Amino acid sequence: MTVRTDDLNLPRTSGDFEAAQRDCDAIIDAVGGVFVGNRILLRKVLAAALANGHVLFEDLPGLGKTLLAKVIARSIGCGFTRVQFTPDLLPADILGTKIWRQNDGTFEIVKGPIFTRVLLADEINRAPPKTQSALLEAMEERQVTIEGETYPIGSPFIVLATQNPIEQEGTYPLPEAQLDRFMLRLSTGYPGSLEAEQEILSRRITWRSDDPSSSVSDVVEADRFRQLQDLVESAVYVDPTILEYIGRLVRSTREHAKIEVGASPRGGLALLKAARALAVIHGRDFVVPDDVKSVATDALSHRVILRTEIVIEGTVDSSVVQEIVDSTPVPTELKRKPAPA
Ligand SMILES: Nc1ncnc2c1ncn2[C@@H]1O[C@H](COP(=O)(O)OP(=O)(O)O)[C@@H](O)[C@H]1O
Ligand SMILES: [Mg+2]
Repeated sequence: MTVRTDDLNLPRTSGDFEAAQRDCDAIIDAVGGVFVGNRILLRKVLAAALANGHVLFEDLPGLGKTLLAKVIARSIGCGFTRVQFTPDLLPADILGTKIWRQNDGTFEIVKGPIFTRVLLADEINRAPPKTQSALLEAMEERQVTIEGETYPIGSPFIVLATQNPIEQEGTYPLPEAQLDRFMLRLSTGYPGSLEAEQEILSRRITWRSDDPSSSVSDVVEADRFRQLQDLVESAVYVDPTILEYIGRLVRSTREHAKIEVGASPRGGLALLKAARALAVIHGRDFVVPDDVKSVATDALSHRVILRTEIVIEGTVDSSVVQEIVDSTPVPTELKRKPAPA
């Protein structure tokens, strides 16, 4: 049996999914109480975190990237560490190192700041490539090797990285292969209206501080956050038509005339995971095409390489991927989830 997707907007949500939606709303409310921005952006950030995915915030200076990463990190109850990336940062400064203890004549492993639940990697493109790649390897493998010994990082493990656009002096652009490790690339953007601009100013007067992020803490406990992650991972139905839709989007990036190198299967997986998390954020136990569509450009555009002449023209990857998303037919029918036994 098939049903039209627009008939599905009153789904059978179990209590679990209603409670999950309430908790997600509470997190987004708390973050939105500090960071002035639209809920669509905040939902995407939360979706990546729920899917245990890493986020790259890329935008011009002063647009609230660091602030947003900090408040999200604080709100999900898991504890976070911030590392400011600088040109002299070494791999060991992030991963950890082995030190010789003179007094008892033994080696001791000192784990680096990467052993955390949420790592805020601020201005990631200011560190040299060797340090970036140490971080990005650990992000993918979720483990760290120090002097030949391997240590798991634990879960959740979410890297929220920020970077300013690459034309700036003294920066090392992340290679495409490493960008692929981020589930989503998001930009905070300029405030959307005069009201939003004024809101930022008036909040500053109320807070009396340039760093209001500390006013947000633990909207949910770490255990609850893990439960929400489990729900995303194991309880969301994904219809075969959704998988086909994701497959078509990813393949279209490989066939597009303006794109030299298209997105990898990892890009499709990132899109699937983010879409499942968005379903949970909306209190649904199944993915609808719009969950996929709304996050497709954020999940795929940093994984494509445009043809040189297209770059010279000034076209950016996100607008090409958006073209693909806009021209790919959206499935209008889903096979309904089988009733639970
Ligand atoms: N959308 C926003 N909402 C609230 N404050 C903001 C916003 N954008 C910028 N700010 C404020 O502007 C300043 C710069 O923000 P920051 O996060 O450091 O920018 P970035 O990391 O993008 O350079 C901070 O004081 C921050 O609180
Ligand atoms: Mg910053």
